[in-house]
Amino acid sequence: SAPRLVDPFARPIEYLRVSVTDRCDFRCVYCMAENMTFLPKADLLSLEELDRLCSRFIAQGVRKLRITGGEPLVRKGIMTFFEGMSRHLDSGDLRELTLTTNGSQLSRFAEPLARAGVRRINVSLDTLDPDKFRKITRWGRFEQVMDGLKAARDAGLAVKINTVALKGTNGDELHDLVAWCGQEGYDLTFIEVMPMGDLGELDRLEQYWALSDLRADLERRWNLTDIPLDTGGPARYVSVAETGGRIGFITPLTHNFCESCNRVRLTCTGQLYTCLGQEGSSDLRAALRQSSGDASLDAAIRDAIARKPKGHDFDYSRQQVSGAMSRHMSHTGG
Ligand code: GTP
Ligand code: 5AD
Ligand code: SF4
Repeated sequence: SAPRLVDPFARPIEYLRVSVTDRCDFRCVYCMAENMTFLPKADLLSLEELDRLCSRFIAQGVRKLRITGGEPLVRKGIMTFFEGMSRHLDSGDLRELTLTTNGSQLSRFAEPLARAGVRRINVSLDTLDPDKFRKITRWGRFEQVMDGLKAARDAGLAVKINTVALKGTNGDELHDLVAWCGQEGYDLTFIEVMPMGDLGELDRLEQYWALSDLRADLERRWNLTDIPLDTGGPARYVSVAETGGRIGFITPLTHNFCESCNRVRLTCTGQLYTCLGQEGSSDLRAALRQSSGDASLDAAIRDAIARKPKGHDFDYSRQQVSGAMSRHMSHTGG
């Protein structure tokens, strides 16, 4: 079989995040502009191309595949892709097939996703207040996501809630979120807001909340213990004695986790970004469309991995935003 992917800093690449569309039915203020221009359909990888490319990554050692967007479930025909990928679960080559979703379409998709072998999903939810929810997502309906979560439960999917910590927006809801997730049996992860996209949309410095401060706030009410849980993602976890639940912290700003980075990101047009916080990308769509052979596609993937940078340069210390990226999060899928 093909050799495993290893980057120039000896980090094995076992986690591929794939954005299957840049479109989304929401417009979260920290993620998108209100009037986004979306890509023409012809630029997107077809479902067959996505399958072929992902399969070559898996042949070279990728063990975890996370489908993202935009909102992955608005991509037409997406279940065909999931159903195709489940063959790699059956063969044992792929350990986890999963997605990060805003939850809006889960009522329809939870059941077929579970049937395709998805066990655990991440759902982005920043507030439990329907009015606030509408403000953050610009027009999303909170109830629709709650219905989606119910469908996920009925389908037997485990859920992790992703909450971007926005001091002035959901800072007053931390304890409610912890209690609610504990009660519902969901893991909960807080994410430090990163300076990507239109920085005019939201004052990142003003909204930014170092998760060490947030943790100190949580500890006033909850008994937290560090636990060694490793999902293959960047979060560090604690358990909550009172609820029996788990909380993860994703801290790109205060605790850079680049050293143990195991992942790369494929955009919906087939560009491979080897770092969320750097500009460099490689055009795998060209490689895909130029040749029909696996060997040349594998070589293009290895070439791209050979250019993976050491880490990002995001920084808010010195009271200013630096290392920011104009690229939208929806482009690389978070
Ligand atoms: P698990 O499988 O549950 O561990 O998921 P995950 O954390 O790998 O995936 P998820 O889509 O839930 O990621 C949550 C967020 O973490 C992403 O949207 C990003 O905002 C952030 N994140 C994930 N990987 C990286 C990374 O390599 N660098 C940076 N800076 N942020 C990342
Ligand atoms: N900073 C941190 N997280 C972000 N996300 C989107 N934009 C940002 C940002 N600027 C999160 C979403 C979702 C995940 C895919 O990325 O809330 O949970
Ligand atoms: Fe859509 Fe997710 Fe971006 Fe919100 S964060 S606009 S739900 S892709």
